[in-house]
Amino acid sequence: MRTADAVSRDIQADAEASDDALVAEFREKLLEEIDLNELSRLELSQRRARLERVMAHLVGRDGPLLSSRERASLVRRVVAETLGLGVLEPLLLDDSITEIMVNGPSTIFVERFGQVERAKARFVNNEQLLQTIDRIVSEVNRRVDESSPMVDARLPNGERVNVILPPLSLDGPVLTIRKFPKPFTMQELIDRGTLTAPVAAFLDACVKARLNVVVSGGTGSGKTTLLNAVSASIPDGERIVTIEDAAELSLQQQHVIRLESRPANVEGRGQITIRDLVRNSLRMRPDRIIVGEVRGGETMDMLSAMNTGHEGSLTTVHANSPEDAIHRLETLASMSDLELPFTAIREQVRSAVDVIVQLNRASDGTRRVMEVVMFVPADDDGNRRSHVVSRFDENRTDGTTRGSHVIGSIPRSMAARLQRNQGYLPEGIPVALGDQPVGRRLAP
Ligand SMILES: Nc1ncnc2c1ncn2[C@@H]1O[C@H](COP(=O)(O)OP(=O)(O)OP(=O)(O)O)[C@@H](O)[C@H]1O
Ligand SMILES: [Mg+2]
Repeated sequence: MRTADAVSRDIQADAEASDDALVAEFREKLLEEIDLNELSRLELSQRRARLERVMAHLVGRDGPLLSSRERASLVRRVVAETLGLGVLEPLLLDDSITEIMVNGPSTIFVERFGQVERAKARFVNNEQLLQTIDRIVSEVNRRVDESSPMVDARLPNGERVNVILPPLSLDGPVLTIRKFPKPFTMQELIDRGTLTAPVAAFLDACVKARLNVVVSGGTGSGKTTLLNAVSASIPDGERIVTIEDAAELSLQQQHVIRLESRPANVEGRGQITIRDLVRNSLRMRPDRIIVGEVRGGETMDMLSAMNTGHEGSLTTVHANSPEDAIHRLETLASMSDLELPFTAIREQVRSAVDVIVQLNRASDGTRRVMEVVMFVPADDDGNRRSHVVSRFDENRTDGTTRGSHVIGSIPRSMAARLQRNQGYLPEGIPVALGDQPVGRRLAP
């Protein structure tokens, strides 16, 4: 077996060795020669072998005089472009790349180690890019064209793909591919400085004690990654239902049911929303429900589940601070079609959420847990307070994103709850003397 690196180097070398016109000419010939219908019934590896045989024959018959190396390279390139994703293949094979962003045919960016850089690869023209896009989405029985110009899909290896076409995108078809390297474990996140060992132990205890945890952060801040790592604390044997728009979570437990929403088909029918799935999951006797990200009316269903019988559920929300997360949950919950007064919605949010973990992606690509807050039960006036369990204090004076994680404390009432449900308290974070003094009051 050759390594992905070696294959990637070959393809790159091929791109330099054989010229584009020749590749295009032989791609045409190959497409004339083969029966695409028959081909589509074969396994990928068989397809590749078949195409390579036909191509070798065609080059031998019609090709210019080429060295054996040039010939092999021409065959590989034509097959890659016919079968695979052409210029994207080496980028997909490169393990250091986590995201591929195609902004029209001649501009491709990649993200490597959290940094975005321009890639040398380019498509010949719009049409070639569209063909590649077509190949990706037809593989999952979706269609993308002027009438449905936005589509999500997944590559056979699980990479998540989003496509948006003109006229919605102004400078040509835009293709974004997110790769999923082996997800980080909690230990790996600690090693990278994303969070501290005491905070990891705290989250582990919270999950085991069935507190409801919400991970909050901006786009690409590492919410899904952290959710995945946190979910490892769910004891084996519990029945877990995961609900996502595009399945990204990979839980290690034995008893996991993965659900994925579905957009409407081209006739505008058949849509299954996250909300439909959350409602359905309640009839599936789950011990815990994990919603990849709440974005709309399903928030209300999720909160009620967290409040009634499915404690210990987990989700993420797009927000920039714990306070913002609470407000965002309130807004999202009010998008449900239930005619609830706002005070009832607020009450639902505030009694459901026990812990918020706030993530941030710094300009240098570092993902960090900026703050962990816990909510203490409402006082006599019905106010709930947030209580800082840990915070990252930024030291901006030197223009970098350095700083240090500062440990706060666990509110006394919540410590009692952890102790009661779990039998022990996590080490490394002290218990506060009372519930009130350290906390900030939530803005009404
Ligand atoms: N702690 C981390 N350290 C370094 N890289 C990370 C970390 N967490 C996540 N990443 C990387 O950042 C990218 C985005 O991560 P992730 O999908 O978890 O973010 P997200 O907040 O869920 O994004 P989205 O807003 O798209 O849902 C991934 O490539 C992931 O591997
Ligand atoms: Mg995510």
